[in-house]
Amino acid sequence: MPTDPFRFLTAGESHGPTLGVTVEGVPAGLALTEDDLAVDLARRQRGYGRGARQAIESDRAEIRAGVRHGRTLGSPILLLVANKDWENWGPVMQSAPLTDLQAAALGAAAAEGNKRATPVTRVRPGHADLAGALKYGHSDIRNVLERASARETAARVAAGGVARAFLRAVGIDVWSFTAEVGGVAVDPGNASRSREETDASPLRCPDPAAEALMIERIDEARSNGDTIGGVFEVVAHGVPIGLGSYVHWDRRLDGALAAAVMSINIVKGVELGLGFEQTRRFGSAVHDIIDGRADDGHWIHRSNNAGGTTGGISNGEPIVVRGAVKPISTLARPLPSADLITGKPVDKAHYERSDISVVPAAGVIGEAMVMLTLARFVLETLGGDRMDVVAERMAAHRRLMATTPPAPLIGGRPAAAGGDEAGSGGDD
Ligand SMILES: Cc1cc2nc3c(=O)[nH]c(=O)nc-3n(C[C@H](O)[C@H](O)[C@H](O)COP(=O)(O)O)c2cc1C
Repeated sequence: MPTDPFRFLTAGESHGPTLGVTVEGVPAGLALTEDDLAVDLARRQRGYGRGARQAIESDRAEIRAGVRHGRTLGSPILLLVANKDWENWGPVMQSAPLTDLQAAALGAAAAEGNKRATPVTRVRPGHADLAGALKYGHSDIRNVLERASARETAARVAAGGVARAFLRAVGIDVWSFTAEVGGVAVDPGNASRSREETDASPLRCPDPAAEALMIERIDEARSNGDTIGGVFEVVAHGVPIGLGSYVHWDRRLDGALAAAVMSINIVKGVELGLGFEQTRRFGSAVHDIIDGRADDGHWIHRSNNAGGTTGGISNGEPIVVRGAVKPISTLARPLPSADLITGKPVDKAHYERSDISVVPAAGVIGEAMVMLTLARFVLETLGGDRMDVVAERMAAHRRLMATTPPAPLIGGRPAAAGGDEAGSGGDD
């Protein structure tokens, strides 16, 4: 029974006691500590425009299985991230059935206007509320929003930390930055900040002048009780030629990356490289000219408009994936909506404490999804149960990708090279 060589599965509700994630397929012998995982979890929580929840949580993943004395065992890794806010939710979110006493107390609190105790029936536009409640048969929308909430992405980022450690061990590095907020875009000519400076800046933006304007847009949204979106860009360096394949649709690296980034709650568009911009240019201004092989064996592309994949395969250039982040759905000045139970319109949708803009955080989640995808494709290509074997295989793979292929033969005899009849007729 074939399964993906590298998988992960998260669990947990936003105000439940814990988030959890099982990561399976990590080879044995990888150095991994909770401090490694803490770095990205902290990066996910920062960013100008986040709401009060981030002041309550300071996420840390506990490694509860699969690692011994700082090294992976080859068995599934279980990570838990506590929700500190759970203490404030008590019986509202407990897994055990409510006692009569608890039910009466909650009912009384709801009657007095306590928002946490009151079942949510006013659906929020832009959320899973309506479709989710009908699909699962819930009449309290809290049963939907607790899981559909982006709090779940903390578990993905914890799993992404495992993928980061794995990829680092085979020479692959993944990073992201905020490329746009509210229509204000980074000017690559002004992207003067180093990676460290960018990571430390309020919006994780490499262009200080653009960042100042982005902050103005967020402040404008805040003062209007509104929200605002943007674009993040994830870049992976060190990916060798040859991950993914053109032979089947579901083995394409570009398709898997797009699906992974699109799966982030709030992402509504994904581009690789120039993405949609390619449609506005002539082919001569799009396709990456190949200047041949350098002395060290690596193939030189004059540009990287394709974003590091061609034909669904990594081509040795940096992988560049951009995610379009919609404005946060919950507005401080709520939009009109409808009530799930009465089916009637209401003036204001339910309001749950909310962020105003989360592009930098979405970028960190984007990194996690890209890393988890690349880890899967590395293991699909190389296999390996132990890190020393995986590292050896990666070195051999890189050597092979930099080696001159043998001259073509026709009927077992050398043939003249240099044919240029690659363009085929028909549908392609
Ligand atoms: C890091 C992060 C934080 C988010 N915070 C909020 C929030 O505070 N309020 C909100 O309404 N949506 C927030 N969202 C977005 C919703 O989770 C998301 O829009 C919703 O679940 C519906 O999913 P969809 O946008 O993919 O359709 C956040 C998303 C991310 C990635």
